[in-house]
Amino acid sequence: MMFPPSDVQLMWPNKELQLRASGDDGCEWVQPADDRLLMPLKFEALTDGPLDARTNVLVAGDGLDALEALAAHTRALDGGIRLVYIDPPFNTQGSFRQYNDAMNRPMWLSMMRDRLAALRPLLSEDASVWVHLDDSEVHRARSVMDEVFGEGAFVASVVWQKKTTRDSRAAFSSNHDTILVYAPSGPKKWKTSRNLLIKDEAHLQNRDDDPRGPWADAPFTAPGFRRAQQYDIVTPTGQVLRPPRGRSWYATQQTYRDLLDDGRIWFPKGGDGSPRLKLFAHQLRGLVPFTVWGAPDTGTNDDAKRHLLSMFPEAEVFDTPKPEALLERIIHIATNPGELVVDIFGGSGTTAAVAHKMRRRWVIAERNTQTILDFLLPRMQRVVGGTDSGGVTDITSWTGGGSFEIVHVTPRFGKLSRRHQAETIKRQLARSSSEQVPRLRRGLQAELLNS
Ligand SMILES: C[S@@+](CC[C@H](N)C(=O)[O-])C[C@H]1O[C@@H](n2cnc3c(N)ncnc32)[C@H](O)[C@@H]1O
Repeated sequence: MMFPPSDVQLMWPNKELQLRASGDDGCEWVQPADDRLLMPLKFEALTDGPLDARTNVLVAGDGLDALEALAAHTRALDGGIRLVYIDPPFNTQGSFRQYNDAMNRPMWLSMMRDRLAALRPLLSEDASVWVHLDDSEVHRARSVMDEVFGEGAFVASVVWQKKTTRDSRAAFSSNHDTILVYAPSGPKKWKTSRNLLIKDEAHLQNRDDDPRGPWADAPFTAPGFRRAQQYDIVTPTGQVLRPPRGRSWYATQQTYRDLLDDGRIWFPKGGDGSPRLKLFAHQLRGLVPFTVWGAPDTGTNDDAKRHLLSMFPEAEVFDTPKPEALLERIIHIATNPGELVVDIFGGSGTTAAVAHKMRRRWVIAERNTQTILDFLLPRMQRVVGGTDSGGVTDITSWTGGGSFEIVHVTPRFGKLSRRHQAETIKRQLARSSSEQVPRLRRGLQAELLNS
């Protein structure tokens, strides 16, 4: 289904232009009809494997260029994207060790609009797009998402508790981020294919030593008056019960008798209470996710930093990583094994790491070569090699395996300095010798080792 664009739209200067990557970390306004946009992007595969609908891909380059180049040169996006999770710079007007977070607002808005608009035609039918932000731009981003996907595509605004400590210097201690969730097919349709949260089975008990195992229970009533579900039920202590006023029994009399014979009806209070339906673990429906996600379930920024620090004790701390538990929940809700997860603001690689451990396919783009060399690449090598014991490794029973390919995309505009050129990543790959490292293209390897 296509929702019409909203009739109320946010305006910003240069909105009619495109914002394209330029040089190492800059951007340039470009007329959509600019001839230079017709020039193919310089695309280089740094590893040997195929780039098809079964491949995981790490792209060194701008996210928009990455999507365009992958669609033009490879079949990696052919199967359709089931989940987009992006955690872009929030535009806090601050600066982090790995990236600058102070764009002017029109540029930030166009950056978001252009990348979301490029993702849209690549989505599968029941895809969802999750955009992780804080209060700096979230209200404006929601207008942009309404514009790109249509207001009817809005599903939820998830509040994630990013920290549990208090900032006593601020007027309010800001302890949450917001994740905007959109499904282009609309929430009603998407609901039929998304996954429920797995119910905690710790609360199940076996109060009658049922050989089928522990169970939960629910009232044997249903709302409203249904004639066929109004009958007498006699409790084990001999009380004759009728449904409470305005309600009916949960099922017809015949079904009730069958359930009773099958030992599926429980009378509390020593056999004197109202009937309850016994529900075994396999019969329990999962839980519809809340829109508030607490730190005990989904971790905090500090948990994510600690995990990175345990993997890379020598590297400078990555300032804004997200915890694997948060991505595990998102990927669980929005995808099934084998489906494609895309993140075009890769950072330290949390999305790719969790998608890999959960046996999903992934495509991830990151523009900062140093971030790729310090975190993303070695992290994914550890995941593949089975040597990352942190994050969601245990709950996903991950022991290693799989592979990924690496490509480099040069922006059409400006000039890349040496440290952002493909050569820099190739050198690192040539230096890495362990088995799990993606194989550098054979010709390149010989060339680099001889240089
Ligand atoms: C908030 S961080 C992402 C953190 C990530 N979710 C994690 O858990 O590590 C944003 C990342 O986007 C990258 N970035 C910024 N602009 C980009 C662009 N145009 N294309 C690709 N990556 C970009 C930055 O270098 C930074 O690493």
